[in-house]
Amino acid sequence: MTQRIALVSGGIGGLGTAICRALAHAGHRVIAVDLGGRDERVAGFHAALDGLDVSFAPLDVTDFDACGALVARLEAEHGGIDILVNAAGITRDARLVKMDKRAWDDVLSVNLDGVFNLCRHVVDGMAARGHGRIVNISSINGQTGQFGQTNYAAAKAGMHGFTMSLAREVARKGVTVNSISPGYIDTEMTRAIREDVREQIVAGIPTGRMGQPDDIARAVAFLTADASDYLTGVNLPVNGGLFMSF
Ligand code: CAA
Repeated sequence: MTQRIALVSGGIGGLGTAICRALAHAGHRVIAVDLGGRDERVAGFHAALDGLDVSFAPLDVTDFDACGALVARLEAEHGGIDILVNAAGITRDARLVKMDKRAWDDVLSVNLDGVFNLCRHVVDGMAARGHGRIVNISSINGQTGQFGQTNYAAAKAGMHGFTMSLAREVARKGVTVNSISPGYIDTEMTRAIREDVREQIVAGIPTGRMGQPDDIARAVAFLTADASDYLTGVNLPVNGGLFMSF
């Protein structure tokens, strides 16, 4: 197996940590990027890695130039980024009538601009080397919409258009671009939902339970494998049956 260099945004978050673990288990050299200045969280992240060697670099994905500088540094150090997983995401839930401009801007700039900012800087190198895997972590709520999530659902749905368009642009260069739409996964993000609202959502999941971060990480490992070279422009739902479509 070829060892690949993998960059995971939102890398120390609930999904990000599981994704880093899965990619490291697959034999890749993994770099987690996330907001800096949170030493305790970074320590918790390293503790959750079961001794796997994953490095951490501070990065605000909303900062286009900072993304460029980090990618340039990693390319110089490692020779290129082969796998990019965009898992940085936030929620600022509120009904539209109560949503302020800041809640809109924050969610769009992290969840959607962040994808552009990193893809824009890694894709040239991937195309030049003739190999690349990009996975964008979207959401079931980008497919269905969700009460209180006009901002989040718009960003997550936007990711699909981005994914399919970029997939077409780089398909002949050995680069695949796919998205995953997690359903409700047991992380800090879903724990923040008001309990009665969360219970109502879980009651509607056909499998009868929330997913685990590893359910998403396994899907990332599948889509980023060298052998997955004929899979591109796909959205892979991992949602316990909460939204079925074809
Ligand atoms: N559908 C229809 N009506 C609803 C509703 C729903 N799902 N939820 C609430 N309402 C109604 C209420 O019955 C209430 O009606 P009345 O005024 O007639 O009594 C009204 O809307 C106000 O409801 P709330 O008290 O809930 O309004 P709020 O402003 O206090 O709270 C909210 C709004 C915070 C968005 C809350 O509804 C909520 O938490 N919703 C869930 C959002 C959610 O699922 N977020 C997912 C986060 S995790 C994630 O995003 C990960 C992922 O990718 C899946």
